[in-house]
Amino acid sequence: MSTGIQNNRIDEHLNLLFSEILLAQQEFSQLREPDLDKLDLIPQKLKEYEEVRGRGFFFPLIASGRGHGPFSELIDGSIKYDLINSIGVNLLGHSHPLLIRASLEAATMDTNMVGNLHLYEDPINLSKAIVDSVKGSNLKHFWFSGSGSFANDNALKMIWQKSEGRTRVLALEKCFAGRSIATQDITHNADYRKGMPTSLNVDHFKIHDSQDLNEQIKKTLENLEELYAVNGKEYCCISLELVQGEGGFNTYHRDLYIEIFNWARSKKLFIWVDEIQSFGRTGQLFAFQTFGLDEYPDVVTVGKALQVCGTIFSNELNPKPGLIAGTFQGSLSSIKAGLKILKYLTMGNFLGPNGRVVKIRETFDKGLNDLASKRNDGFFHSSTGIGLMFAFQVKDGEKDFTANYIKALFKNGIICFSCGKDPYKIRFLLPLSITDAHIEEIFSILDKTATELLKG
Ligand SMILES: Cc1ncc(COP(=O)(O)O)c(C=O)c1O
Repeated sequence: MSTGIQNNRIDEHLNLLFSEILLAQQEFSQLREPDLDKLDLIPQKLKEYEEVRGRGFFFPLIASGRGHGPFSELIDGSIKYDLINSIGVNLLGHSHPLLIRASLEAATMDTNMVGNLHLYEDPINLSKAIVDSVKGSNLKHFWFSGSGSFANDNALKMIWQKSEGRTRVLALEKCFAGRSIATQDITHNADYRKGMPTSLNVDHFKIHDSQDLNEQIKKTLENLEELYAVNGKEYCCISLELVQGEGGFNTYHRDLYIEIFNWARSKKLFIWVDEIQSFGRTGQLFAFQTFGLDEYPDVVTVGKALQVCGTIFSNELNPKPGLIAGTFQGSLSSIKAGLKILKYLTMGNFLGPNGRVVKIRETFDKGLNDLASKRNDGFFHSSTGIGLMFAFQVKDGEKDFTANYIKALFKNGIICFSCGKDPYKIRFLLPLSITDAHIEEIFSILDKTATELLKG
């Protein structure tokens, strides 16, 4: 690791700052109502920002920069549970010591954003650690990018360069791949590309909806064959999220994935797995590891919880010089944080069948089932997703009702979001720092808010 400027005085001050910040942030560790004299502050500021940005916001949310664990303080003085962590960024929760440390260490260095020409040791170390973390797979290289969408664009470019003119993509229905010019066509929801020309030909395949796995595999492969019969000669790859994020936290049996991937292999298609949302959340570092699919992916994309984005790819996909480049690798504080997070997840007791990810999930599933049985009014449906990706439908999963419940939860102290479409679901991306006592409080808020919403 590059350490920047270092001497005893700086070390002393850094250590002091580290513990002072840590202690001061711990003050923000429980729910709080907004200050009465600040009730208009967030709507006012958002109105100003809306004029600059050109569009409004779903929540009245501006964070103060203070928070601890699952809690985030807003500038109106309220403190809320953050159960969506900026759509997946803050996996460890707020003011985590590793993140404070990463920022302080980065502050001793001579710059902030770093790139591919003027190299530092940190991106080298993180790249090595990422490649090391996928040792059992064909993935041998890592390239940074500025966003998840761009990591996906790079994956596609690598695939295209090795596909002899075949450019059409086979993707899973309901997938979300980003909003770049290429990925907006892969993203299934056509509402996100209104008025856009088609720049990439994509066929979306269906996973057959059935409780019978054999039937599901058979019908899914039939659908793939049908699509292949029409456009097969143009396909370069199959692209999918093993746990669909935006799509509704949909996930399927390992054997189904194996059959799909074997089918893709038999047609000589590259296999591209998007782990931008799932990284760190499924019980192993990557969902393909959780499902025991290590031998299949040719390219995997990451982002969000890792604090940096990028593309991990096989020797075969290693691009020719000039194809993949860009100014930034990331900020030094993000790259340092990424390396610390990777080590923390692998060295701590988080992954595997007895790890904290699985325990948190079990507690949430039990909490939801208990609440649904206690209420016995059909308000809560059982959860979907895996690990820290937890979603559930309320009532009929109707769009406005779901949005109203999310807004009511926000008022009562829980920040979350939706996923899926017809039915819409409540989406939690749970932070690792959540405790069993927090979970108990969260379920009492879910219950209270449901009752309030039904009363109208
Ligand atoms: C699965 C998946 N792929 C790609 C993206 C795009 O990433 P970004 O928003 O960083 O461009 C997202 C973001 O939500 C995602 O969840």
